[in-house]
Amino acid sequence: MPAQFHTRVRAELDSIDQQGLTKPERVIASRQGPVITVAGREVLNFCANNYLGLGGDERVARAGIAATERWGSGTASVRFICGTLEIHKELEAAIAGYLGFEDAILFAAAFDANGGLFEPLFGEEDAIVSDSLNHASIIDGVRLCKAKRYRFANSDMDELEAKLKEARGAGARDIIIATDGAFSMDGYIARLQDIRVLADRYDALIMVDDCHATGFLGEKGRGSYAHHGVKVDFVTGTFGKALGGAMGGFICATTEVVQLLKQRARPYLFSNALAPAVCGSSLEAIRIAQGEEGDALRKQLTANAARFRGAMTEAGFDLLPGEHPIIPVMLGDAKLAQDFAARMLELGVYVIGFSFPVVPRGAARIRTQMSAAHTFEHIDQAVEAFTTAGRELGVI
Ligand SMILES: Cc1ncc(COP(=O)(O)O)c(C=O)c1O
Repeated sequence: MPAQFHTRVRAELDSIDQQGLTKPERVIASRQGPVITVAGREVLNFCANNYLGLGGDERVARAGIAATERWGSGTASVRFICGTLEIHKELEAAIAGYLGFEDAILFAAAFDANGGLFEPLFGEEDAIVSDSLNHASIIDGVRLCKAKRYRFANSDMDELEAKLKEARGAGARDIIIATDGAFSMDGYIARLQDIRVLADRYDALIMVDDCHATGFLGEKGRGSYAHHGVKVDFVTGTFGKALGGAMGGFICATTEVVQLLKQRARPYLFSNALAPAVCGSSLEAIRIAQGEEGDALRKQLTANAARFRGAMTEAGFDLLPGEHPIIPVMLGDAKLAQDFAARMLELGVYVIGFSFPVVPRGAARIRTQMSAAHTFEHIDQAVEAFTTAGRELGVI
């Protein structure tokens, strides 16, 4: 390796470190769950996207093992060559049926689903109107597409309307509004009823990334659009959060859209088929999520979020408002957020501090995430630890 390249990489790492922005990997020595083992001790886990608690569920794990036994480790192929197994078709039908769509297409990750959606369906003549807080994978997906790009401030419906008007005025053929269903750093749920009204007014399509909604928001956990009781044209999502926590993404849409994506979406055409273990686990998670047990898990999740919000507000913390199980505890200063998270770990609670560039400068926070697997005792212990750390560090 040329020394000059090595020096440049080293300097960049040092610069990230000096700004206090290095993201360490804490190694977990147990299954995912409300209590995990980190650095040799058991701690409460309040930062996984394990919304329904299925990430460490025995039945979900067993279903993955059974699928591996039946289908092997994988296909050693992309889907269209010789990589489509019956279990892939089963998972596509299951997720489309659960979320109320005609069909679905699988990807190795939701990152790829967002990367593969726009480019095949929209060209130079079209327009994409995107929320400013959209996930990085939507931003990248939009960049890969030749359509004209417009951006509106997060959930600002006046600005969205202005951009739709501008796109129509510029003669766009098709317009698509792209938004996260729930914004992962803030826990805000997209204003889909208002977006639906504007989409109808300007004859636009709606795409929703429901990674932080599928499985637990809305009726039967169908997602943000079900929460708001509206229809959307495309949903992208992940099996890596509420639906078993493994990995893998999907797009749900009409039969024709899925057919076209299977001909043209590059992350689908040029990447290996989803591993059978992931398909098996995800199928079991969908089965649980859409049944009565799912209803009970969603009820528990809502109750946990309400309990945490209530107790933390009473303790004097500044929380972002909302009803989502992502509950950001606002601290402002980046260093304070890091120190706070470190102290919380000492107190037996695993949480992570988020700061710029992941969130705006001066808006550093601890993003807590509730799970249906948390008990009220876990919630109360976490609030107690927050209160101790908050007093020590002068936050409350
Ligand atoms: C809103 C959103 N979209 C997409 C993704 C990517 O999901 P995956 O891990 O399946 O690639 C994430 C994960 O962090 C996310 O939060």
